[in-house]
Amino acid sequence: MLRQLVKLTRSRNFCAAAAKTEKVRRSIPEDGPTLSDFIQKSSRKPRQAAIIPSIEKTSEYLRPEDLDGNKKTVCYVTYGCQMNVSDMEIVRSIMSSHNYIETTDRESADIVLLMTCSIREGAEVKVWNKLKFIQRNSKNKKHIVGVLGCMAERVRHELLEKKNLVNIVAGPDSYRDLPRLIAIANGGSNAINVQLSLDETYADVQPVRVDTHTKTAFVSIMRGCDNMCTYCVVPFTRGKERSRPFDSIVEEVKKLRDEGFKQITLLGQNVNSYRDLSSFDFSTQPTTSDRVPGFKTVYKPKIGGRTFATLLDKVSEVAPDVRFRFTSPHPKDFPMQLIELIASRTNLCKQLHLPAQSGNNETLERMGRGYTRELYLKLVDDIRTILPDVSLSSDFIAGFCGETEEAHQQTLDLMRTVKYSFCFVFPYSMRGKTRAHHRLEDNVPEEIKHRRHSELTQVFREESLELNKKLIGTQQIVLVEGVSKRNEQHLQGRIDGGVKTVFDGSNEKIETGQYVNVRITDATSQTLRAQFLGIC
Ligand code: 5AD
Ligand code: SF4
Repeated sequence: MLRQLVKLTRSRNFCAAAAKTEKVRRSIPEDGPTLSDFIQKSSRKPRQAAIIPSIEKTSEYLRPEDLDGNKKTVCYVTYGCQMNVSDMEIVRSIMSSHNYIETTDRESADIVLLMTCSIREGAEVKVWNKLKFIQRNSKNKKHIVGVLGCMAERVRHELLEKKNLVNIVAGPDSYRDLPRLIAIANGGSNAINVQLSLDETYADVQPVRVDTHTKTAFVSIMRGCDNMCTYCVVPFTRGKERSRPFDSIVEEVKKLRDEGFKQITLLGQNVNSYRDLSSFDFSTQPTTSDRVPGFKTVYKPKIGGRTFATLLDKVSEVAPDVRFRFTSPHPKDFPMQLIELIASRTNLCKQLHLPAQSGNNETLERMGRGYTRELYLKLVDDIRTILPDVSLSSDFIAGFCGETEEAHQQTLDLMRTVKYSFCFVFPYSMRGKTRAHHRLEDNVPEEIKHRRHSELTQVFREESLELNKKLIGTQQIVLVEGVSKRNEQHLQGRIDGGVKTVFDGSNEKIETGQYVNVRITDATSQTLRAQFLGIC
C-alpha cells in the first residue's frame, strides 16, 4: 500500500518539493522504496547518531586491549542523592572488571570520575567548581576527567567546551561504555555518550560497595521516572521508568543477607512504582490499577506484573533478620495492601517517606503532583490507622512559581498537621527543559524563597522535637552503625523509625551490625540519646 502510494506520488507529481529535488528522486530505488527506505531518509535525525561517536567507526581504531585499564588508577567522587552513590557502585564494578584500580589520591589519579547531580542549580555549580579545582590542583597533568550521571545528561557537550576541563561525558545509562570512552580519551579525543535507554537496569552488574562496615546496603530496584512533576529535571536526565527483574533483586538480597548485612534500603527515583512486567501474563493479571484512589498521573494506569508490594513481601521473607527501608516513593503508589504488609512484618521499618512538596492545592496543581491537600491528608490518616506509630518524612519546595504567602502558610499548616519526623526543604530552582521552565514564571524573589525555606525548616524542627520527646522512656531496637562522630565512647545507630540514636556502649562488647535494646533518655529535633539495655 505504502509502496503504491509512493509510486503514485512520484508519477503524478503530487509532491512538488520531492519532484523538484533531484537528490531525493535519485535516492528512490527503481522498484519503489520500502518502509525502511522511508525511515532511513526521514528528516528527523536519530538522537543517538548526533551524540555518540559511531561504534563501528571507533572500532576501526580501538583494539580489544585498548579497553583494558592496565591497572591505571581511578578516583571516584560522588555528589547528590543515594541513587548516585548506588550508581557509583555500578561504575566501580564495571571499571574493576576492566582492570582499573581504585585510588583515593585524587591529585595523582590517572582518571577522575565525578558522579553528578542536576536537581538544583547549586548542585551543578558545585561540580563546575570542583572541575576547575581539579584542573588547577592535579599533579598528574595527563589525567582523564569524566563527568557521569545527571549533569552529564543535561549539560552534555558544553562540559567538553572548556579546554582541558573534561575529557569524557557519560549519562546515567552509559556506564557500560566507560572503558570505550576512556580508550577514546586516551587517544587524545573527547568522548561522549548520553543515550538514554528504555531497559538498562544494570541488573547483571554486581555493585562494588564501599563502607560495608556499617552492615547497611542500598539495592537499586528501578530507574527513571514517568511522573513529570513540572519542576523536576529527573525525567529528562534519567529517562523513562523501568524496573529491574524481580529475581535479580531477590538474588542480590540473599547474597547481602549471607554476607551479614543487617539493613537494606531499596532504591529508585519512584521506588514504589516498581513493576516487573517480564513475566506478564494477560490472562491472570488484574485489570485495575493499584494506585491510591483519587491520585492522578500523566500516564495511563500501569497494571499487572510483579509490584512493589510483591517484591517487599518476598525480600522481607527471604531475609528475616534484615531491616528494609525504601526511598524515594511517590504518594500515589501506596495502596493499603502495601501498608498492611508493612504492618505485618517486623523487618519492614515503620518509616515512610511521603513527599508532599506543598500544602496548597493551586501550587500542587501547577507542580503536576496529581493530588490535592485533602487527598494527601486522607492518605496520611489511612496510613496512621494501620500503622499508628509510623514515622513520616517528606520533601518540600519553598517558593515554587506563583506561590503566594497564603499558599506558603498552608504548607506550614500541613507540616503542623502531619507532624513529620524529618523533612527535606529546598528553595525552588528553575531547571531548563522542565514544564515549569516552558510554561511558568520563576517569580518568587530569592530572599522570599529563602525566608520561606527557613520558616519551613523551623516548623518541621519544632514538630520533630515534639515527636522525639514523646519517645523518651520508650524501649527501642537500634541497629548499630558505628562509633559516634562526637564522642568515641559512644555508639550510634537508628531506631526502626529512622531517627539517629546515640548511647554509651563503652563497657559492652558491641559490634557494628548488631541489634541492641535501648531506652530513650533524651531528645533533640534530630537525635535521640539512649541507655543501653542489652544485645538483642
Ligand atoms: N527545585 C527545588 N527542589 C527540587 N526538587 C526537585 N526539583 C527541584 C527543583 N527544581 C526536590 C523535590 C524532590 C527532591 C528530590 O528534590 O522536593 O522531591
Ligand atoms: Fe522528579 Fe516528581 Fe519524578 Fe520525583 S516523582 S523524580 S519529583 S518528576
